[in-house]
Amino acid sequence: MRPAKAAAFAALTLQTSLVGALRVANGSPCSSKCGNDLFSTEVENIVCDEGGFSSGDGLVFKSCVTCESRSSYVTESATGKETDVQWLVYNLRYAAASCLYGYPDGHAESNPCLIGPSCEPLKQAVIHENMAANVSTYDYCAAWQPLQLPKCLSCLSIGGGNHFLRNYLTVLGAACEQQPLAGKVVGIEGDIFSTDIVNGTDITAIPTLSPDYFKEGSFGLGAKVGVAFGSLAFLLIVAGFLIVCIGKRKRRSYLRQLESRNGGGFGGFGNASSPPAGPTLTKAGPAT
Ligand SMILES: *[C@@H]1O[C@H](CO)[C@@H](O)[C@H](O)[C@H]1NC(C)=O
Ligand SMILES: *[C@@H]1O[C@H](CO)[C@@H](O)[C@H](O)[C@H]1NC(C)=O
Repeated sequence: MRPAKAAAFAALTLQTSLVGALRVANGSPCSSKCGNDLFSTEVENIVCDEGGFSSGDGLVFKSCVTCESRSSYVTESATGKETDVQWLVYNLRYAAASCLYGYPDGHAESNPCLIGPSCEPLKQAVIHENMAANVSTYDYCAAWQPLQLPKCLSCLSIGGGNHFLRNYLTVLGAACEQQPLAGKVVGIEGDIFSTDIVNGTDITAIPTLSPDYFKEGSFGLGAKVGVAFGSLAFLLIVAGFLIVCIGKRKRRSYLRQLESRNGGGFGGFGNASSPPAGPTLTKAGPAT
């Protein structure tokens, strides 16, 4: 057991030093697609040019990330649960860091959307903790700026060469919004590696969410109590309105009766033959 573990550790160390960014949960069904198979290509570079995803490093990245995006694989590691979603998020952050922000060395291919206010505000979240791989999956979300995302995506839409990069950021935003538990996937619509505009799934429509979410979270006891109180309040308002209206009508007819009994002689109006003017009388009436 021990030598096997040591060997696995050595392999892991070797693999991480060679592979750099491309990560997958230990024992995941995606492993062979992620370049971690002894007989497959090692990925050393993040590919940014969309023309470069049909072979080599680009193809491995695409296969690996596509697999991870659909995988609910979880395993126990020394530091807790390790999931494919965790490495999906990490790999996408790494690719965005490299292709958009020129991480780690500010290389020349860094994107023009970085200059100016479009994508720069998301940089801190994407490169969170200098891409340390030992932070929690959603730690970067603390620095994520959801309102900035559409601005960055708009910038990346210009020129038409950044479909994939756009989608990486959309998935990172959806991951922050949904923060799926271990064993659940990030709900997205569309193919990340296509000219599709990928969208995060409406959170209430994700069948993989914990059933508890639907029991209590979305329309739970609190919501039901709230609705009950809301309905009661509405009924009370309607009742109050009716009481006031009926009261006004009663008062008016009472005043009319009073007036006809007194021959319209409500002091000050002089002309007894003028027809009873409801509202005026109401004001001038025995309100005193
Ligand atoms: C992550 O690893 C670095 C060194 O590699 C260490 O300094 C840091 O404390 C670790 N962070 C966590 C959250 O374990
Ligand atoms: C995502 O939303 C945009 C805008 O609403 C839409 O044009 C696009 O087709 C959607 N993508 C998918 C895969 O449904």
